[in-house]
Formats: sequence, structure tokens, C-alpha cells
Amino acid sequence: MSKALIVANWKMNPATFKEARKLLDETQKAAERTKISVVIAPPAIFLREFTSRSRGARISFAAQHAHQEAGGAHTGEISIQQMRDAKAKYVLIGHAERRARGETNDDTRLKVAASLAKGLTPILCVGETKRTQSGEYFNVIAEQLRTALADVAANKLAHIIIVYEPLWTIGSDKTMDPREMQMMAIFIRKTIVDSFGEGGHDIRILYGGSVDAASAPAMLRDGDVHGLLVGRASWSAVEFAHLLTAAENA
Ligand code: PGA
Repeated sequence: MSKALIVANWKMNPATFKEARKLLDETQKAAERTKISVVIAPPAIFLREFTSRSRGARISFAAQHAHQEAGGAHTGEISIQQMRDAKAKYVLIGHAERRARGETNDDTRLKVAASLAKGLTPILCVGETKRTQSGEYFNVIAEQLRTALADVAANKLAHIIIVYEPLWTIGSDKTMDPREMQMMAIFIRKTIVDSFGEGGHDIRILYGGSVDAASAPAMLRDGDVHGLLVGRASWSAVEFAHLLTAAENA
């Protein structure tokens, strides 16, 4: 699957700018050996330096988090507009680790709308904390999607990326069975089509949660996804290069 989109979520790593620059350079080289679209989501403090260092390269950058308001008294926050000014193209919204720190579905709605207004592509993360026999998790996902997309015009759907990332797979050793992901992708699309009409079929869906070189190919082949969101396996250039090669040959 050569057109796959792979997002590298570095989270709060690495420890120094020197290490970050090395990881960036090696990741960029690995990305350029493939046709995969690679997006790096580095810690915000590295973003501006990275986008100017990689000018003209095939990789792009995402903010891991941003505030929806253009300015104001928000100590410690960085606005979507400021991320855009630093040349980010994408912004992660509603990542499980942000939701765990209090980000609500309503916050994701404001951030999705503000990102579209400012010209950043929202990468909206949805996922349930746990699964039970009753299938309640489908309602959790539907609610996350409906609220986050409530202010989006149907003609903007193609500019949004959805990541399905169940919490029980993040940072664990469990990946999801691609056939289960396929069912979830159908459900996500159906939920969006129910609200927006046929245009909902165009939405891009990624999978995230303990993806590595071993699990990536099957997920890309059988999971009905357009790409992957990768955490730990993107923090080592060697490991990430293996993942990209495996994904390219999937
Ligand atoms: P992981 O993280 O690949 O380390 O599980 C994924 C994520 O949280 O984005």
C-alpha cells in the first residue's frame, strides 16, 4: 500500500534537541526511500526548527495538541494559529492522553472547527477505554464522532482524518485484529454518512495502538484503513525505517 499515510507521534520524546534533530534526519531519509506519506508530530518546542530544516522534503508535520482560541489568557497553551505559523500542516485532536487530562468531546468539536478555519488538517482520535460483551463501545465512538464533527460542513469532510485508537492497545503489547478494525472502519463510515450523507464515504481512517513493523502490513492490507498512527515504534529511526519498509510492501 504505497499511498499509506503514517503519522509518527513522538509524544514527549526525545529528551534533547540534538537527539530530536538526529531522529528527524534519519526518519526523513527512511521516508524518502518509500512512497509513503510520513507526518511527524514532534514536541511543539521542536516544530518551527523542524519545518524549516525539512523545507522541500516529502515529510510534513503535525502539532500534537493545540488550543482552539486565537489568543488570550491560556498559560502554557499554543494556539492552532501559532502552530500553523510554525508551518504545521496537521494537528492531533482528542488523543487519548489528552482526553485523560480532561479534554472533552466538546473541546474536540471546537478544535476541529478552528483547525479547518485556520487551514490545518485535523487528525481526530477516537477510541473506547474498554470493551465489554454488550458492544457499548460502539456508542462511545459514535458520540465522540458526532460531537467532534458537529460544526463541520459536509464539503470539508475530505479535509479530516479520523484515527481509531482503542485505549486498551495504546502503549501495550496488544494490537487489534485487522478484521475487527475493518468492522470498526465500516461503523465509523456509517456513523459519518448518517450525519453527513454520501460524502462521508470519503473520510480517511487510520488505525493507532501498538503498531510496529510486524503488525503494520496486515493492518494496512485487511483493516480497511488509509494508514497508521505510530507511537513507540517511531521513537527509534531504525525501528521506524523497518515499519515504513514493511508498510510499503504490504
Ligand atoms: P503506541 O502509541 O504506538 O506506543 O501504542 C500510539 C499513540 O498513542 O499514538
